Amino acid sequence: MKFVAIAALSLVALSGSAAFGADAKAGQAAYDKSCKGCHGATGSPNPAVAKMLSATIPELSSPAVQSQSDADLKKTITEGKGKMKPIKSLTGSPDDVVAFLHTLKK
Ligand code: HEC
Repeated sequence: MKFVAIAALSLVALSGSAAFGADAKAGQAAYDKSCKGCHGATGSPNPAVAKMLSATIPELSSPAVQSQSDADLKKTITEGKGKMKPIKSLTGSPDDVVAFLHTLKK
């Protein structure tokens, strides 16, 4: 319970700083909620989901993904791509999620 309160407080603090540009930390929180189930905590695909969707889910840390423009990555999130549907339930800004995606680069 205490942890939840601290997490909620830090989210408020983070959303304040997001006004100054994309916030990878806030992006990670949104990613953990909306993307992790399929893309794993570090961008390595969940094989069970790939199998279920009969899709090849790319490694998000890979050059194939990291070389894409922020606009293209954002479009994948908001409009979907191939077998990935648009992520309508995203909490927070897709710009922050894109900033987080770049932190996965190896
Ligand atoms: C239900 C599972 C699912 C969820 C949830 C999901 N994805 Fe995906 N994602 C996929 C699949 C499947 C692909 C492969 C699409 C294809 O190539 O057909 C993919 C591909 C991608 C790609 C690579 C696109 C490319 O150019 O090849 C990116 C980037 C991506 N997802 C980001 C995200 C982000 C960020 C989120 C959360 C906001 C997210 N995904 C949520 C299933 C998911």
